[in-house]
Amino acid sequence: MGRIVAATGACAVGAGDNREMTQDELKALVGQAAIAYVQPGSIVGVGTGSTVNHFIDALAAMPVRVAGAVSSSVQSTERLNKHGIPVLEASDVAGLGVYVDGADEIDGQGCMIKGGGAALTREKIVADLAQKFVCIADESKKVAVLGRFPLPVEVIQMAVPQVMRRFEAMGGQPAVRANVLTDNGHPIVDVRGLSITDPAALEREINQWPGVVCVGIFARHRADVCLLGTATGVQTIAYDKG
Ligand code: 5RP
Repeated sequence: MGRIVAATGACAVGAGDNREMTQDELKALVGQAAIAYVQPGSIVGVGTGSTVNHFIDALAAMPVRVAGAVSSSVQSTERLNKHGIPVLEASDVAGLGVYVDGADEIDGQGCMIKGGGAALTREKIVADLAQKFVCIADESKKVAVLGRFPLPVEVIQMAVPQVMRRFEAMGGQPAVRANVLTDNGHPIVDVRGLSITDPAALEREINQWPGVVCVGIFARHRADVCLLGTATGVQTIAYDKG
């Protein structure tokens, strides 16, 4: 189970403003908090999504910037480029100190569902290069058991019907995501109705199905740390990978 190792104080939205922070403000808060894990002058791994967009903006505001970033999507690359942060190919990098990314769900062990933004395959590739995975998420993403969020799976087109039959056989309700192809040119199958009590076992199983490019369970590449944006500030949750 993750341990809360730090918590910042309450977050003021603005002078004299006592309202609760919006989800986007919580995302901005954790995007900025992740800068504490980034070494100036280093190469950082960058995920994808609206939370990561705040992280990229915070990277651009560092007094001493990073030397560059390895990006997990065209979307993040474009934002990094806009800020003048050099983007390196994952294939040109042998390792990264840290990878920062959001999640669609995160459980008590730091296992995640990812891929709501269809970037799961490149996210897993960049995460695999990194020594440390820092997940940034607002508190709505924290769950006891993964699976309320439909599980994204990137699949080679010709295997889609068979992969969907396999999910139906295990009680899931798969659907091809409409009008979406990944940056790699493949469709995404979203699977509802799964209660993922053993994320590592299910990730291993689905990875073996022919035609599956990547499953959005991040158990083998689970988070080391989660910076969780809450009504009372940023909670830092550390996961024991013993
Ligand atoms: C993209 C992802 C994102 O990290 C996930 O969807 C969370 O996105 P957001 O920060 O917009 O809530 O896995 O493939």
